[in-house]
Amino acid sequence: MKIAIVKERRPHETRVAATPETVKKLKALGAEITIEAGAGVSAAYTDQAYGEAGATIVPDAASAIAAGDIVFKIQRPMSAEEGLDELGLLRQGQTLMSPLGALTNRELVQALASRGVTSFALELIPRITRAQSMDILSSQANLAGYKAVLLAANNYGRIFPQMMTPGGTLAPSRSFIMGVGVAGLQAIATARRLGSIVTATDVRPATKEQVQSLGAKFVAVEDEEFKAAETAGGYAKQMSPEYQAKQAALVAEHIKQQDIVITTALIPGRKAPVLVSEEMVKTMKPGSVIVDMAVEQGGNCPLSEFGKVVEKHGVRIVGPANLPGELATDASALFSRNLLNFITPMVDKETRALTINLEDEVVKGTLVTRDGQIVHPSLTQA
Ligand code: NAI
Repeated sequence: MKIAIVKERRPHETRVAATPETVKKLKALGAEITIEAGAGVSAAYTDQAYGEAGATIVPDAASAIAAGDIVFKIQRPMSAEEGLDELGLLRQGQTLMSPLGALTNRELVQALASRGVTSFALELIPRITRAQSMDILSSQANLAGYKAVLLAANNYGRIFPQMMTPGGTLAPSRSFIMGVGVAGLQAIATARRLGSIVTATDVRPATKEQVQSLGAKFVAVEDEEFKAAETAGGYAKQMSPEYQAKQAALVAEHIKQQDIVITTALIPGRKAPVLVSEEMVKTMKPGSVIVDMAVEQGGNCPLSEFGKVVEKHGVRIVGPANLPGELATDASALFSRNLLNFITPMVDKETRALTINLEDEVVKGTLVTRDGQIVHPSLTQA
């Protein structure tokens, strides 16, 4: 088993798919590791550290990929049209383990199939108990939720906690977290730690108790539709226009009193729902801050701009390009452990080779292409 790791080249990407710690553990599993020089530098992992962990360092991506039969990545491979032909470096029979955005990037999946690459889409790891340690979406969203609050604090001209000083008392900030998945829960916890008064909303009823258990107040339209708004997989459903209108009216009233708004609302495979309209932004206090964590999926606020901080109607709106990438060292550490936990059950203890058990639930959930074909049920049935 030969594993290759390359430097990530998409804009804003600072993370790396293996750390010296996981290199050591992969070696213990029986793998040989080849890594492109400088692959971990932006995440503070040096070539020397990888070398000491037992990896072979090679000068470029082409030689790293040539040396591996399995390739680990943290961003889906780029095509020549996107700037660099990473796809072209992959060859028939090779296995790719990477987030692929497979449900929305059909062309990429087709290209991987055509090249005869066996590919696993890590964003599709099923949310079952056994796979929690492999869940890259959770590990990265958790860090992103934390960082979003710090970004909000940095862009806010006031402090978060109440502070009594000889010169007078400063009032605590009010933070409103919209969307209480993994990122939202961490944002609530982080804003509370900083001393903010926190409220939160979501369309999934299960979140009410979670919000309250973190010491925040839950704000939502709790009608019949809300009571049924969760899929079997635990994700949000697309809400009806009637519900969205009621939700918007409630949010419009609430948001006027908020200083910090962090939006995290996503619906898998769809554009992010608009939760903070321009009209609502106009009613917010001058100096308030919105961090739109859904900006990559179209944004929860139509005024946010990808990778930018913009000032609109006196409100500062932050549209972070890659929040986990701003915590590159820890984000890489968690991602690479997720990947190690993903591959470990697939390694045959005797032969130390990768053995793909097609009956395994995690394999079934993530295997996207194999033997020149697209094999994932969500893609073959579409
Ligand atoms: P996500 O990133 O897909 O979405 C973020 C949040 O936005 C969700 O809570 C969603 O309900 C909410 N949202 C969507 N539309 C909304 C709207 N119109 N208004 C307000 N909020 C809206 O969610 P994430 O973080 O991936 O979590 C989804 C679920 O998966 C959660 O129940 C989480 O606890 C669960 N989970 C389960 C795991 C396991 O069992 N292994 C691991 C990780 C998460």
